[in-house]
Amino acid sequence: MSILYDEQNRMFKLDTVHTTYMIGLSEEGYVGHVYYGRRLEGFWGKYLLRMQETPFTPAVNKREKNSFLDYFPMEYPTGGIGDYRESCLNVRNERGSVGSEIFYESHTIRKGKPVLAGLPAAFGGEEEVQTLVIICADALLGLKVSLSYSVFEKEDVITRSISMQNDGAERLRLEKAYSACLDMDNQEFEMLSLCGSWARERYIQRNKLCPGRQLMSSVKGESSHQEHPFIALVTPETTQETGEVYAMNFVYSGNFIAQAEITQFDRVRMVMGIHGEDFCWNLAPGESFQTPEAVMTYSDCGLGKMSRSFHDFYREHMIRSPYKYRKRPVLINNWEATYFDFDTEKLLAIAKEAKKNGIEMLVMDDGWFGKRSWDDSSLGDWTVNEEKLKGGFPNLVKQVRKLGMEFGIWFEPEMISPDSELYRKHPDWAIQIAGREAGQSRAQYVLDLSRKEVRDYAYECVAKILRSAPISYVKWDMNRQLSDMGSACLLPEAQGELFHRYVLGLYEMQERLVTEFPELLLENCSGGGARFDPGMLYYSPQIWCSDDTDAIERLRIQEGTGLVYPLSAIGAHVSDCPNHIVCRTTPFETRGNVALAGTFGYELDITKIPEADRELIPKQVELYHKYSGLIQTGDYYRISSWTDKKPLDCWEVAAKDGSHALVTCVNVLGRPNVRSIRIRLHGLRALSLYRLEGTEEAYRGEELSSCGFLVRDLNEDFKSRLYHFICED
Ligand code: DGJ
Repeated sequence: MSILYDEQNRMFKLDTVHTTYMIGLSEEGYVGHVYYGRRLEGFWGKYLLRMQETPFTPAVNKREKNSFLDYFPMEYPTGGIGDYRESCLNVRNERGSVGSEIFYESHTIRKGKPVLAGLPAAFGGEEEVQTLVIICADALLGLKVSLSYSVFEKEDVITRSISMQNDGAERLRLEKAYSACLDMDNQEFEMLSLCGSWARERYIQRNKLCPGRQLMSSVKGESSHQEHPFIALVTPETTQETGEVYAMNFVYSGNFIAQAEITQFDRVRMVMGIHGEDFCWNLAPGESFQTPEAVMTYSDCGLGKMSRSFHDFYREHMIRSPYKYRKRPVLINNWEATYFDFDTEKLLAIAKEAKKNGIEMLVMDDGWFGKRSWDDSSLGDWTVNEEKLKGGFPNLVKQVRKLGMEFGIWFEPEMISPDSELYRKHPDWAIQIAGREAGQSRAQYVLDLSRKEVRDYAYECVAKILRSAPISYVKWDMNRQLSDMGSACLLPEAQGELFHRYVLGLYEMQERLVTEFPELLLENCSGGGARFDPGMLYYSPQIWCSDDTDAIERLRIQEGTGLVYPLSAIGAHVSDCPNHIVCRTTPFETRGNVALAGTFGYELDITKIPEADRELIPKQVELYHKYSGLIQTGDYYRISSWTDKKPLDCWEVAAKDGSHALVTCVNVLGRPNVRSIRIRLHGLRALSLYRLEGTEEAYRGEELSSCGFLVRDLNEDFKSRLYHFICED
């Protein structure tokens, strides 16, 4: 059993293979956090609740209750009653006051994990996961608050979420409802987070945690380019292989907060949930609310172990697509090749040349519908532009398939252009505040997905096209962030629900899509990588990582993304040079080697690129076929990082059974007179002999992991190499 309850001491113990999480109940029934860290075999540690530190304990002496509440390590702190750290739950009652206090009532422990209605969430069989639900209540409000903990033993992951049920007679209003809290002693923590902008998503950032609150958040209606729903607290000595890491990631694609705070008592509170700004949820008697899920992992072997736990967890328990471990077709996307300027002829010319070089699927990107010849019209008018696609859409698909290729298509279903038939007919379908002109972004508005008729319309537009021809792949894009939050259909007191209702509407649409088209390969995208989060992974096995396809920029972007997400999910393409975003020219081979650490594909006009580059494509496609299985399923190790100002950027993917490993090295900036660089490998069988493919060189596993391997001949800027080590035993 991975979840135990010690009735005598009123403690819960949640075990994974390498970690233990302990919860204790105080005499009054407060649910307190006792311990999270390396696995413990016994039941101890309750003293960490510090209940004996009287006179502050309410059961002993009520005179300093606020001091107690501001100090006690709470599993789910509530606001308005004297815990001045960040609260997770703010409830306003009918008379307008905010205040709630919850106490333990009962608990259940069961095998498996229930689904979270309407939300993406981790799943697992009865043998893989167990769930503890601690049921608490605020008797005055009649509010039941259930704290769920699902323990994924093998992956060292615990997922958490909260459900609220109004069992009372009053109308309640949730003004904040986070998903998880972790109160701990400070260990000189540093906070690691992922931040950036369009075309430079998820750069790794690490700073010392200081007194006060430090947060990553989004109030943009999506998980965003700028700040990512992930934080980790790490001890100062933490590297890839050493040190302690407490990490949280959020299974949600909208507004979020991920915050750590050092308190006056040098303790730390880490929280994660839907951002409280412009959030409310009305709970009438009998109604309930479910928060999204937070994913937690702990590692005492550094960041590498954290990444591998997340990767295994997302692959096994979040991604549902049949493509999870299936080889994805090598695609060519026409966006960077043509932008909006294409027609059937151009697309077929690209497809023909692509096919000759081993590429397996053509993806038609933005610009095929309505009157769209630039980004300022037609979103919402999902009828094929027959001036561009002469002979019609099914004909184009037929021609592409006749070449022996699959066909994929781009949509942006959540949007509406002011210049569209749809907007002229239904201006109120756009999110906007009544009486105020809504702001455009990329010349578009956002559809009000809280409305069923709007979702039905947008869904049907996509489904109708998919039903009209054999389409294997959809790129679901979203090119602006939300603002001017107002819905024509929500009551004034429910307008604050719009952000969350929008995300629920999006999830409902994607659920319909993958249910009606179970074999569809869906790739989510948001102006590059603004919605790269575990919520999206529940619907699509891959997500477009960034509009920046420059191989050197991609090293940082993919390193940050790979810190949390499996390589199999990272949308990565080879594009033309000079790169359209940073104007850099890199070797075609390096562009290929970097894209191999993702889904792999092309995004260029294959009819126009230099002959020497084109000649490399069949070889690259062959490498993809050779390594895609390993990259999809293997263990990822970051060996050296350009982000850390090392000239060599280097990572390894090792088969789980140690049978082979692929090492990718990119020499970002040549360093004069460095003849060789030693790297240490991981995940190999110590005593087995590994041959370096294509050479006579052979090494013992322990030799490669302890003495290392010498990388030579990499003195030129941007030059890269793949090294494949194969076990001979
Ligand atoms: C943003 C995406 O990230 C691009 O790949 C492309 O699909 C454009 N949108 C199209 O508008």
